[in-house]
Parts: sequence; structure tokens; C-alpha cells
Amino acid sequence: MFKLAPSILAADFSNLGEQIRRIDKAGAEYVHIDVMDGMFVPSISVGVPVIKAIREKSKRFFDVHLMIEEPIRYIDDFIEAGADGITVHAEACKHLNRTLQYIKSKGIKASVAINPATHPSAIEYVLDDVDMVLVMTVNPGFGGQTLIPNSYQKIEDLKSMIKRNHPDIDIQVDGGINATNAAGIIKAGANILVAGTSVFRGNIDENVALFKEVFANATGESKGR
Ligand code: DX5
Ligand code: ZN
Repeated sequence: MFKLAPSILAADFSNLGEQIRRIDKAGAEYVHIDVMDGMFVPSISVGVPVIKAIREKSKRFFDVHLMIEEPIRYIDDFIEAGADGITVHAEACKHLNRTLQYIKSKGIKASVAINPATHPSAIEYVLDDVDMVLVMTVNPGFGGQTLIPNSYQKIEDLKSMIKRNHPDIDIQVDGGINATNAAGIIKAGANILVAGTSVFRGNIDENVALFKEVFANATGESKGR
């Protein structure tokens, strides 16, 4: 039930294929791919051709996080490139419901992300059309930032909103996640953890193993309850 989604933004881009193989072999369930357009967020990162190129390196779930304005324009392209799931930002879509329904109609997983300043109630009326909600725990645009402390409360609030009518929706967190704060984040209600710096800096195998240990403990605790 808990999943690790290493963000390749922190990977060695000169060796990307090999880095994807490493996280796959280490047991990370997802490959988190951050797409940035220089408009919705200040940075520009990678796009469709890069996803196409790395698709053959791993059979894991390609979790494509679109930090771009009006992502509906590019959904088909990202699906064709190999996305298994696409996340769009509530703040970037004029017609959020239409965008999410469009993603779902193509047979892949649809997810909605909210920035730190966005209240969970902003997505209450699209929950019927999503498989996952991504809570940004930093302001999007850069790796290596520190988690914003009120994120824990926000995840709890979202969790209680979701569990009423949509208990199966995954809660993903992204930004400043590491093996030290992971336990608290899981306790608040998240089950899919994005991690860039804390997976790719240093020894990838050891870093993934640390997260797996946190997951195992959290699974044990929830069974014991
Ligand atoms: C931020 C991206 C994140 C980022 C996470 O805009 O969405 O996925 O790469 O990096 P870390 O884990 O280093 O904060
Ligand atoms: Zn991301």
C-alpha cells in the first residue's frame, strides 16, 4: 500500500537510463517525472522525448507530474510517450474537471495536485474523477527544498475529507521528503512518497532501503492497531 516514487529531477541526467534501472532494481515502485514549463513554475525541466527515451528502461509505473499551464493541450503526447498516470495542478487548469475526465477517458490514472497555498476544499468536487491527490509539501519548481511544516495538518485535513466518500484515493506527497520525516508524513495519511534528493544523493540502494524500512514499520503499526 505504501509506494516510493523517486523523482528523477535529482538524478544524474548524463546517465539517466542507468539511474532509472538502479531505482527499479532497488525496489522503488514508481518513476516520478517532473515536467516544468517555465511558466507555471520558474524552471524548465524535461518533456516528451525524454520520457519516450527512458520508457524502455523500466516497466515500473511512470508517474508524470505536469507543472505546466493548461496541461490538457499535451495529455495525448504524454500518454503516447508512456505515462501510466498523469498529475495536473488544480491551479494550472481553467477546466480542471474536464482535464481530469479527459485523462481518465484515455484509460490511465488521473491525479490532481495542490500547491502549498491551495486549500483541499478546492478539489472537493473533482474527487469522483481522480485516482490520486498530490499534496505539494514545497512550492513546486525546484528539488532540494525543505518541507513546509503545516503540510502534516493539511494531509490530515485532506485525508478526513477523502475518507468519507472516496477512501480508495491515494495521497501522494512531493517535496522535501526523506527517510526521517517519512514516518510522520505517513501517519498524517499519505501513502505514496515522492523523493528526489533523498533517493539520488549518495547510495541509491541504501536510500531506497531506508524508505522501505519506514514502510514496513508503518504497515506493522497499522496491523497492530
Ligand atoms: C518539485 C518537484 C519534486 C522535486 C522533489 O517541484 O515536483 O518532485 O523533484 O525533490 P526533493 O525530494 O529533492 O524535494
Ligand atoms: Zn514532482
